[in-house]
Amino acid sequence: MLASTSNADRHAIRASLLHCLRDPGLAGDASCVEFLPDALVLCRGGRIEHVGPTAALLPTLADDVRIDDQRGKLLVPGFIDTHVHYPQVDVIASYGTQLLDWLNRYTFPAELAFADAAHAAATADFFLDRLLENGTTTAAVFCTVHPQSVDAFFTASEARGLAMIAGKCLMDRHAPAGLTDSADTGYRDSKTLIERWHGHARSHYAITPRFAPTSTQAQMAAMQRLAEEHPDVYIQSHVAENRAEIAWVRELFPGHRSYFDVYDHYGLLRERAIYAHCIHLDDADRARMTAAGATPSFCPTSNLFIGSGLYDLPQALAAGNRVSLGSDVGGGTSYSLLRTLGEAYKVQQLLGHSLSPAYALYLATLGGARALSLEHALGSITPGKAADFALLDPCATPLLARRTQMRDDPLDTFFALMTLGDDRAVAATYANGRCVHRRSAQPTP
Ligand code: GUN
Ligand code: ZN
Repeated sequence: MLASTSNADRHAIRASLLHCLRDPGLAGDASCVEFLPDALVLCRGGRIEHVGPTAALLPTLADDVRIDDQRGKLLVPGFIDTHVHYPQVDVIASYGTQLLDWLNRYTFPAELAFADAAHAAATADFFLDRLLENGTTTAAVFCTVHPQSVDAFFTASEARGLAMIAGKCLMDRHAPAGLTDSADTGYRDSKTLIERWHGHARSHYAITPRFAPTSTQAQMAAMQRLAEEHPDVYIQSHVAENRAEIAWVRELFPGHRSYFDVYDHYGLLRERAIYAHCIHLDDADRARMTAAGATPSFCPTSNLFIGSGLYDLPQALAAGNRVSLGSDVGGGTSYSLLRTLGEAYKVQQLLGHSLSPAYALYLATLGGARALSLEHALGSITPGKAADFALLDPCATPLLARRTQMRDDPLDTFFALMTLGDDRAVAATYANGRCVHRRSAQPTP
């Protein structure tokens, strides 16, 4: 009997439930996925307390437990975006350049505006509302070089009850004056922010070198010291995204076996280190990634939009890499991890591989949690984990409704959602047990 003297902080969601219990592998072992057609998820104090078939659980619930009845919709774990830039809201969909030009022409000018704390606060609110309307409840987020951009971000994410990873970008060269720090101020500002935010509420700090070309050897060494002093903080950066970038790193850091080796040399590969793109790594880099416990973030919409290349998922998985999924907005073109998965599928098709719907679901949920070493708290709808969910509507559009009624198969429904869906398919988002987004009914034409 689950009744207690006070049920004020208890509530339940009734919906179909779909989540991964284990890694299903690229081909998608369906036994690693659990589907309950009519489930009750009982939440208390921000966590999942109990999960089961409604027929079994409903009779045990006290009368005063509120039930959010969402029958017909699909409850999945909140999506986890392991690489995104909140200051690039206004950079999305910028025409005509590849990485290095794109940074100079669009990205750096936009990031300069974050010296203004009010602009940072307003943009953090706007950005987080976009994540939530897309069902994303956790992300690894780049801020700008300005410490106030980090304060604005975590203030906004904590107000929404979110588990977020973020950090101040470090750049002491090859960027405009208003966007650079130094080896010393980068170290000190990052340390202050770690002390302020890491482990506060659901916030985690990430040491955030933008990428090797914008840090001198002295700054890389300062980050190594910072990382050694804070072994449990995250590290996030970019690597091996674009051919011109790789050639530049070879000039700037002569004598290294590879671009990836530069980060290794400065002690920046370890558990909780997330590297975006990783398109052009070689076998030795991938093996080192696994041995060090660092992880790649696959960013398909960005890789396509900036023309960076096709990420070979099976190659990474064969090397034992714990791959996760990144939207990489503003290089990426959508905050929706459903759309991102749709593009991930097409990229793998071009390489002659099929990304199964089970593995796609894993990439956006439990795989993301594992890559971030947050599997104990996130990634599946399991008692004890955080009550962070996305509620998907298989009938969100006339086309989706028609397509998903074709087959009575939850993974096929998920595949249709990731191919045809976007924010319209996210009926609601829950974080820390609270509904933080509900899609309003659209006016009928
Ligand atoms: N490499 C260095 N900075 C960036 C960035 O902001 N976006 C992407 N996609 N790649 C980068
Ligand atoms: Zn990026």
